[in-house]
Amino acid sequence: MGINILGMGSYVPEQTLCNDDFKKFVDTNDEWIRTRTGIVERRMAGWEPAWYMGKTAALAALEKAGVKPEEIGLIICTTVTPDFLTPSMASIIQYEIGAENAAAFDLNAACSGFVYGLDTARRFLASDDSPKYVLVVSSEATSRFCDFKDRQTCILFGDGAAAAVVEKSDKIFSSFLGSDGSGARVLFARNLSPAKEIRLKSEFDDGFPEKDVHMLYQDGKTVYKFATQALPKAFELAAGKIGMTKDDIDWFIPHQANVRIIETAAKKLGAHMDKFIITLDHFGNTSSASIPLALNEGIEKGLVQRGQKLALIGFGAGLTYGGIILEY
Ligand code: COA
Repeated sequence: MGINILGMGSYVPEQTLCNDDFKKFVDTNDEWIRTRTGIVERRMAGWEPAWYMGKTAALAALEKAGVKPEEIGLIICTTVTPDFLTPSMASIIQYEIGAENAAAFDLNAACSGFVYGLDTARRFLASDDSPKYVLVVSSEATSRFCDFKDRQTCILFGDGAAAAVVEKSDKIFSSFLGSDGSGARVLFARNLSPAKEIRLKSEFDDGFPEKDVHMLYQDGKTVYKFATQALPKAFELAAGKIGMTKDDIDWFIPHQANVRIIETAAKKLGAHMDKFIITLDHFGNTSSASIPLALNEGIEKGLVQRGQKLALIGFGAGLTYGGIILEY
């Protein structure tokens, strides 16, 4: 059983930070950021909570899908920057959009979140007491956990949200979800609690570098290496299950972290870069919102057409990775 993406929507905040704006915080410049990452500018959520961005994207997706909020049976939100530890962002959005018949929960698989979320939606839709429609919302205010003193990290990220309304269908679908928890300490942000005194003296906790409370830490080179392997692997493991190869794919929609990562993955797959949708130049890395933002932009620009085969491939903290092959 597959899924049909009935409609998508997205929302990005108005405030834009271009590369040179970072000179105010750190020693950097436009040329370095462009050539090392491909990023030119990104959006910043000022007053806007992550749930608000998610709600706005969700309402746009519902309108495109022609589905009323009360017809949604389940809302899955993916985020690494929830405004509340509890309640879930999904519950807040459920109330805000009036989806009174929906169950709601959040899912954290970091930047692989949308791939995990969409695959989870499909599994609910395949169940005996399946909801008619599932709403998947990915919303991230990464600026809230970026350390604007850390030039290697803060220049990479941006804020935004995207959402999809899905229903069950007999279109092709295949997925692979993976995780390598041994990579936890190369990309992490601690809970808001200072919690030094409640950390366990354990092999797990002792291995983490020190970082200001709740700020994002990354070992860029290790993450880079992981990512260039994870993207092709996620594709091959998902596509291989249904005997598909890169030649069967119309569009690759990868996680938007660094254009060099995507170029290396494309080379490993033997796929042309023209088949990859790229939005990181104007949105940066929006964590779990990056794949659905790119997919929705591809749809809105008329690049992604009904009947085409898509490969959504992601990686992120965890370290997680995953791929979905589906027909749009
Ligand atoms: N501006 C200017 N110089 C910078 C800089 C910045 N924003 N950030 C780092 N530098 C410097 C470094 O200090 C280093 O200087 P040195 O040679 O004097 O020590 C030099 O640039 C090269 O740094 P390096 O770390 O080797 O650069 P890189 O080519 O590996 O690029 C990343 C760094 C972070 C862009 C890259 O490793 C990356 O994209 N990693 C993956 C990160 C990621 O995807 N994270 C999210 C996953 S979901």
